[in-house]
Amino acid sequence: MNTWVVILAAGLGTRMRSRKAKVLHRAGGLSLVEQVVRAATAVTDTSRIVVVTGHQADSVEAVLRPYGVGFARQTEQKGTGHALACCRDAVKEKSGRLMVLYGDTPLLSANTLRTLLESHTAHAQAATLMTTEVANPHGYGRVVLNDRGHVAAIVEHKDCTPAQLEIRLINSGIYCFDAQPMWQHLSEIVPNAKSGEYYLTDMAEIFGRHGLAIHNHRIEDPRELLGINTRIELAEADAILRERKNRELMLSGVTIEKPETVTIDLDVEVGCDTVIEPFVRLLGHTKIGEDCRIGTGSILENAHLESNTEVGPYTLVADSKLESGAQAGPFSRLRMHAVARANSRIGNFVELKNTELGAGSKSQHLAYLGDTSIGAGSNIGAGTITCNYDGAKKHRTTIGDDVFVGSNSTLVAPVTLSDNSYVAAGSVVTHHVPSDALAVGRSRQENKAGWVSRRKPKKG
Ligand code: UD1
Ligand code: CA
Repeated sequence: MNTWVVILAAGLGTRMRSRKAKVLHRAGGLSLVEQVVRAATAVTDTSRIVVVTGHQADSVEAVLRPYGVGFARQTEQKGTGHALACCRDAVKEKSGRLMVLYGDTPLLSANTLRTLLESHTAHAQAATLMTTEVANPHGYGRVVLNDRGHVAAIVEHKDCTPAQLEIRLINSGIYCFDAQPMWQHLSEIVPNAKSGEYYLTDMAEIFGRHGLAIHNHRIEDPRELLGINTRIELAEADAILRERKNRELMLSGVTIEKPETVTIDLDVEVGCDTVIEPFVRLLGHTKIGEDCRIGTGSILENAHLESNTEVGPYTLVADSKLESGAQAGPFSRLRMHAVARANSRIGNFVELKNTELGAGSKSQHLAYLGDTSIGAGSNIGAGTITCNYDGAKKHRTTIGDDVFVGSNSTLVAPVTLSDNSYVAAGSVVTHHVPSDALAVGRSRQENKAGWVSRRKPKKG
């Protein structure tokens, strides 16, 4: 039997107090709606997932396009019932099962959705509603049960009587319907008296009027059903996702020191026996091999670290790579496709931008290396600066194998230092340095004998 999944993600999310659509806010480093889409792929094929977009539809669709899901537009946000009605054309089959999810529940797991489908099949009612009991039900729709334990009504917080406000059984916003009666009766929703919106939750009473029962599928852990309406809930979801991620990595053999201080995005991969020190942030699609060490306070975003690499404290690596045996830090920065080849060393206050540092080469202190290729076995002295920008254009510096660049040298690009060449300390290099040559690009030192005593006034 076919299962279609509709994800409602058209709202602005007024309570976020943001210019950005709520479902694009991130928890665990991923947008809220992306996480709901990922969970949904566990129960159906992406060709049967339809996301309802409206507010900032283009941005929401751009984030989700790589997943291959379909879209339906809700141009005016007239409520969750209206949002579902907007999918009538996009959902091609009107029989089988229809699951409805909200785009603001990022903690939902694939397993929970599978269980919902199983429960729906096993209890064979017209619909199944996922519910849970929470300590503080503020803001959620309250679930009213009939004497047979089925869902009789869902009453939105704003519409609750004082007695209903005491109900702690809440609507998670996760539903599984038999598609046929759902599509048949959807148009019977009338606008809410207070808000004028079409509430999907009214389907509970509508089904009741037609003698169709709704099974109450209650789950124990309310955390998974957390709906994000405010930035406080966003922070709660983020904390839960990150704790989950840390635990998963620790169970797979990664040491995380003081995990409560470490932030790891959901798509990050870390190999066995790698040690992550306190206050590290691993973001985006960062991938770290085995037996690595990531020093305290380091931030790695879309970084690729091969096995046996080490990043010292307070190092930033963005969109860059360290090959096996390479070391960077403390206080280094690699960005824009920098590559540190095998066994190379990058030390404190060294920045590599769009630069390749060859195998075994070293730049240990205080350097800026931008748009540069450096071969193997070279040594870049303290204070070396590549002048890659002339105010209008960027230029490349090419440094060969086994080159020695003396301290405090300025390499004015475009310039090439061939294999086995030397640059004297304090040089300004503007021309090609051939192989086997020493470039001295500075004025010679002159000592003026007796100068000091001639200048200083005589004492006594
Ligand atoms: C909703 C439920 C409530 C439930 C809670 C669970 C309704 C009427 N209420 O309340 O019973 O306890 O979720 O988290 O359904 N959306 C649209 N178009 C619209 C309005 C909303 O696509 O016109 C989308 C939003 O983008 C959001 C989702 O539907 O992803 C839920 O909307 P939201 O306003 O957050 O509903 P809640 O008030 O939380
Ligand atoms: Ca919500």
